[in-house]
Amino acid sequence: MRVQIAPSVYASPLLRVGEALDAVEAAGVDALHLDVMDGHFVPAISFGVLFVREIRARTSLPLDVHLMVAQPENLLDELAAIGVRGVTVHAEAFAARPDGSRELGEVLRTIRGAGMRAGIALQPGTSDTVFDVFEADIDDLLVMTVEPGASGQSFRLDQIEKIRRVSARARISGIQVAVDGGINPETGAACVAAGARYLVVGSALFSGGLDGIASAVSRMRGAVQT
Ligand code: DX5
Ligand code: ZN
Repeated sequence: MRVQIAPSVYASPLLRVGEALDAVEAAGVDALHLDVMDGHFVPAISFGVLFVREIRARTSLPLDVHLMVAQPENLLDELAAIGVRGVTVHAEAFAARPDGSRELGEVLRTIRGAGMRAGIALQPGTSDTVFDVFEADIDDLLVMTVEPGASGQSFRLDQIEKIRRVSARARISGIQVAVDGGINPETGAACVAAGARYLVVGSALFSGGLDGIASAVSRMRGAVQT
């Protein structure tokens, strides 16, 4: 199966984001990864649904939203109305709630009920046991290979074992394993070898400026195609 490559729009040159989106789409990426951060679940604030709506109008690529927010349930209706393909929420946003496990299950079912793909994201320090509990409720499992909240960090090699473990299970249940953080041709190839089939790529695609996007996508594609 073709490995999915999804540029992280947060890592693109934000004042020229339209041109950056045109360039990644022309280069043949499979989807766009949109990082919504609320300044609470993570210290940074990125962008919200207004920006997601503008992106929807600009491109025909599928949009997959990564919610690094404390209250993901508040955004689901708007994201569904915009027409995003997938919504991934962090397991850690529910861990501290008294009834978090039930609430996470409800959120995942709400996402699917609205016709979107449902995903759980795991920070590097979070065990994948949550995957056992919600295996039947998700389409995507996003393994974070950096601490969430910023682009341009180094890939955490210690996450490869987790990717391998969840990928073996996910293959059987038809769940797509995605990785996010510090992905470049080398680390992306290691993730694909461990079983990941969806790569979020930020600075490795955008750090060379608008003119470097096409060649960065083709280097990425060449390194990870199985
Ligand atoms: C980090 C975000 C990532 C980030 C990826 O919290 O979830 O999607 O933009 O950027 P790179 O590929 O530079 O780590
Ligand atoms: Zn992300």
